[in-house]
Amino acid sequence: MNIPTPHIECDDKTKIAKTVLMPGDPLRAKYIAENFLTDVHLFNKTRGMLGFTGNYKEKKVSVMGSGMGIPSSMIYFTELFDFYGVENIIRIGTAGSMQEDIHLRDIVVALSASSESTINKFTFGEINYSPTPSFELLIKTYEKSKELKLKTHFGAVYSSDQFYSNTPTKVTENMKKYGITCVEMETYGLYTVANRLHKNALGIFTISDSLVSGEKDSAKDRETSYANMMELALEVATK
Ligand code: HPA
Repeated sequence: MNIPTPHIECDDKTKIAKTVLMPGDPLRAKYIAENFLTDVHLFNKTRGMLGFTGNYKEKKVSVMGSGMGIPSSMIYFTELFDFYGVENIIRIGTAGSMQEDIHLRDIVVALSASSESTINKFTFGEINYSPTPSFELLIKTYEKSKELKLKTHFGAVYSSDQFYSNTPTKVTENMKKYGITCVEMETYGLYTVANRLHKNALGIFTISDSLVSGEKDSAKDRETSYANMMELALEVATK
């Protein structure tokens, strides 16, 4: 397919950086562009899925919303990797803690993603394909996180297909028992596309609510107050 694609109106590949940070919420992408980047230009507004490119410490980086859920976000991951020559996508999202020792505002980095999504059953049949993150992005994130002295957990995440979930209690209990750190909704799709196209991906989250304690951050906090994760991702993106 040629550019522009059906969902990204940009007609010049050079207007999108090789590394794109992707929050679910396009307004969070705007917030990051306005508060962390210089020399910013907008490269997409189709369907309101705002995408910006700018400089962070004099290095080019892009930030774009992905939307919520595996099918929607995979459209953007695929178009950026396959048609715009993007090499690295770092998802920066929120997630719900599934462990007692993972608290509001803690950071989690996804070493793996599990899901009830059938996207890989469709491709692999009986094989339970396990998509993986980029080792290089992971190592950089680990080193930066230590340097910035952030409280970061590295572990398995659950990419749920439903926010208003009816996951049986037993299944949730088993996920907790098997060490799943938190629940979000896109990383299984991101890692699958990145693995298929031989590109690099990593999911980094800030805990916005807890399935263990019931605590929650407000919608306003979700939009603006995840500065640690944003800084970590920007440092990794431009390292
Ligand atoms: N479920 C799914 N996605 C999420 C959650 C949740 O509880 N919290 C933040 N993203």
